[in-house]
Amino acid sequence: MIGAAGVEVSITGLGCRVPERIVANDELAQYVDTSDEWIRERTGIRERRIAAPEEALSDLALPAARDALAEAGLEGSDIDLIVVATVTPDMAFPSTGAILADQLGAVDAAAYDLSSGCTGFMYAIAQAYGMVAAGLAQRALVVGGDVLSKVLDWSDRSTLVLFGDGAGAVVLEPVSEGGFLGFELGADGSGGPSLWLPGSGSRLFEDASSHVKMNGREVFKFATRILVQSAEAVLDRCGLQIADVDVYVPHQANVRIIDHATKKLGVPSERVVTNVDRYGNTSSGSIPLALADARADGRLRAGSLVLMTGMGAGLSWGSALMRWTKENGGS
Ligand code: ACO
Repeated sequence: MIGAAGVEVSITGLGCRVPERIVANDELAQYVDTSDEWIRERTGIRERRIAAPEEALSDLALPAARDALAEAGLEGSDIDLIVVATVTPDMAFPSTGAILADQLGAVDAAAYDLSSGCTGFMYAIAQAYGMVAAGLAQRALVVGGDVLSKVLDWSDRSTLVLFGDGAGAVVLEPVSEGGFLGFELGADGSGGPSLWLPGSGSRLFEDASSHVKMNGREVFKFATRILVQSAEAVLDRCGLQIADVDVYVPHQANVRIIDHATKKLGVPSERVVTNVDRYGNTSSGSIPLALADARADGRLRAGSLVLMTGMGAGLSWGSALMRWTKENGGS
């Protein structure tokens, strides 16, 4: 997809970080009435990473960003746009984007946060793509990450077992060939109460605690439908078929949701990236962490057609199609 300024834009660097502490399902059974068997059967999750009490989003985002920059052969000072997709920033303000800009030496870069739950990373890369393609930015750093363990109710088994912490970062810049081919983004605000974090902003609630609340069945129905619809829409927009997709990177919420979408779309299982078993649902971190795994296991090659779809709070969704390029570590 050639942008308004006549340039192709791609990912030229990728880095990820998860906290060191691994929490297996059995450990969660100490806090709530659950079991390893139930969690594996219903979600496919075996373990997740949980941040230390003093660890905040920028502590994960900074090393991830440094790795992404190193891979792109850039310094922080080369970046003029930083977008951090998260619902768990270090604090409401300054933005975690501005905190990162300072830590990376990205002096004078535009820097901000974007909130769209688990879809955040998809919105953020679409936005950064648009700004680089239009010439409003030269090189962008996009971070997707969340530390949801800090806003979970550790006595609510219906949410506690699903989530984990993690962050990923990508560098977006003009390339000679390949890169992003198309996006499809959307939201249906009427589904907001299915997945929300009341008490985290300016609306006051009687219950002063601020924890993730979810109607699991509603989210499940939405997720299975939208993963298929959004993927088909972006493929259609680009004049491509599901058979053309080499690597399918769905949001990592639940193995049953991924299996359902994969079957419906007709993606062969060896093309599907799944790591929810090791990380749980890391919200905005999910897609970059999955991209990093696909690269580590050799599936992301120069020319590979990559389909990514995220969905989450809003309720919102977003898909991107891209050709992985030689510039970004493809072999
Ligand atoms: N351990 C043991 N039992 C549990 C647990 C648990 N952690 N959680 C719920 N149960 C019980 C319920 O109380 C219920 O018991 P009951 O029959 O006595 O009432 C029983 O298990 C079945 O509950 P359901 O909610 O029907 O279970 P379901 O098969 O729908 O699975 C789940 C629940 C895993 C939450 C599923 O609905 C789901 O994955 N939904 C999507 C949620 C999601 O992915 N959210 C992430 C954020 S959004 C996003 O990323 C898109």
